Amino acid sequence: MILRRISVWHRICASKWQIYFIGGTMDALELLKQDHQKVKELFKRGQQTEDKQQQKQIFKEIKSELETHARIEETIFYPAMEEHEELKDMVLESLEEHKQLKTILRELGKLSASSERFKPKFKVLKDDVEHHAEEEEEGKMFPKIRKLIKEEELKQLGEELEAAKHKRLRKAS
Ligand SMILES: [Fe+2]
Ligand SMILES: [Fe+2]
Repeated sequence: MILRRISVWHRICASKWQIYFIGGTMDALELLKQDHQKVKELFKRGQQTEDKQQQKQIFKEIKSELETHARIEETIFYPAMEEHEELKDMVLESLEEHKQLKTILRELGKLSASSERFKPKFKVLKDDVEHHAEEEEEGKMFPKIRKLIKEEELKQLGEELEAAKHKRLRKAS
């Protein structure tokens, strides 16, 4: 009897702890939106300055943020979404857009900020990234995911994304 009570108590505590733990983290969609917002602000700063060195520095930050973001989406988020038949096409389209973005990132990385091609290419990258982020957030993807996937699963995924992000950032530093 006592043992049973202890075991029931243990289960209640464990589930409370789990709820507390899950409640403290961002879900996957919130985390990805936060990443989008960060990059959006960096682009804004990049366009506001005329200082070439600063432009190049901001571009480097954008590149690193986008590479990490694309990596965690491609290795964790999209594969989880792809398990749902209704999301498959959207994931495939997103992957194609990632490929295009990586090409522009590579090309821009090779240009010096004093090149006359730097500014227009930077603008194209900004527009394409914003279009891609909007498609994910306000297009059909995130709203559909909210309807299809339980919050608990999205929180769990959020934790995995967060952990992968930190692992990658630690490696880079
Ligand atoms: Fe993406
Ligand atoms: Fe994204």
